Amino acid sequence: MKVLVVGGGGREHAIIMKLSESPKVDEIFCAPGNGGISKFAKCYDVKATDVEGMVALAKELKPDMVVVAPDDPLVLGMTDKMQEAGFKTFGPKANAAIIEGSKVFSKDLMKKYDIPTAFYEVFTESEPAIEYLKKQNSYPAVIKADGLALGKGVIIAQNEEEAVTAIHEMIDDLKFGKSSSRIVIEEFLTGPEVSVLAFTDGETMVPMISSMDHKRALDNDRGLNTGGMGTVSPNPYYTKDVAKECMEKIFIPTMEAMNKEGRTFEGCLYFGLMITPKGPKVIEYNCRFGDPETQVVLPMLDADLYEIFDAIYDHRLKDVDIKWHDGACACVIMASGGYPSSYKKGIPMEGFDDKGQVEGCFVYHAGTKLDDNNTFLTNGGRVIGVTSRGECLKCALNKAYEGVSKISFEGAHYRNDIGKRALEAK
Ligand code: AMP
Ligand code: GLY
Repeated sequence: MKVLVVGGGGREHAIIMKLSESPKVDEIFCAPGNGGISKFAKCYDVKATDVEGMVALAKELKPDMVVVAPDDPLVLGMTDKMQEAGFKTFGPKANAAIIEGSKVFSKDLMKKYDIPTAFYEVFTESEPAIEYLKKQNSYPAVIKADGLALGKGVIIAQNEEEAVTAIHEMIDDLKFGKSSSRIVIEEFLTGPEVSVLAFTDGETMVPMISSMDHKRALDNDRGLNTGGMGTVSPNPYYTKDVAKECMEKIFIPTMEAMNKEGRTFEGCLYFGLMITPKGPKVIEYNCRFGDPETQVVLPMLDADLYEIFDAIYDHRLKDVDIKWHDGACACVIMASGGYPSSYKKGIPMEGFDDKGQVEGCFVYHAGTKLDDNNTFLTNGGRVIGVTSRGECLKCALNKAYEGVSKISFEGAHYRNDIGKRALEAK
């Protein structure tokens, strides 16, 4: 079988490596891919958001399956267009991807179907939003842009001044374009966060092993929010009891709610959860594999990923045996100096073998490219995810950080405390 994977980050690299373990998969293409991915899959220079260009590429390559991994093309309807063109495609259709594409949609869905989440109100004008904020007079206040905003559309305002500024920037100045013409103001929740990705074909829901992201740029959860600076799996806060409660009150009800709305979700549904003193609540849904959660979850998968994708497409997920390895997995992101604000690109990297790897780890490439001399250069904010699996979390973390110490590039920035909170939970 030939597979075309759409996207070009660490998540796509992890999906490609897992697919390549399948005896059924002979050849993998990736568009646009990146320097590191190009060592494992043939890459094509088509933007992930270029729906027409991607369908044209598929017509040329004739893959047996297309995997659409990032949020934007899913929300734009790339799965719909691929399927119309006759390609078996993994990833939800646009009418289901809206669960991530619109926070107002997802909040209203949860309210309608009684799925636990933070209390909220929706606004399209700044004046009533500010009035509401003043009436609530409760800080921190959580202000979210309705649409996709590269993971930057959530502001946790510590006081009225910050909140008012955020509201003006989003609604009046359209800081995130159309994505922030509508906003959600919601209750601030507390508790450890857990990411759970789940395979679903709309009839069966199979939660994957849990994970924990580290969203802030700096150690001890300080600094700006990022796309994620590291992950560990499993997440010790996701106990058996919590998992049971999530399945009954969140996962199954969400699948059924989407079915009832005529928006059956087929693909990987991501639950961003907070384990509050009043039980688990949904912080956000994503319509796709998380990044960098995938980099620690898929290495733990002891099953054929191609077979799972195929089964989801055919609505026979219930027949697939999905197992997980024992032990733990850790991923430390090495980012460009300055990320998530401005940073330089094109900096030469040292320490890799010819495939962009180091011994004892797997390096998932997120933002790298190759120059004419076969040297890896930085080409994005999050550059690589140095990942290791071990018998215990501490073992996996030690190996991942050992890998990090072997790689260098000017300005390289990483957190030193990935997994610390998870280790403290035990
Ligand atoms: P999101 O993009 O919705 O996942 O939000 C980004 C981050 O903001 C989350 O991972 C949480 O750490 C934080 N966050 C979002 N919503 C809330 C909330 N209602 N209460 C507390 N923290 C939140
Ligand atoms: N790591 C969070 C996300 O993928 O949205």
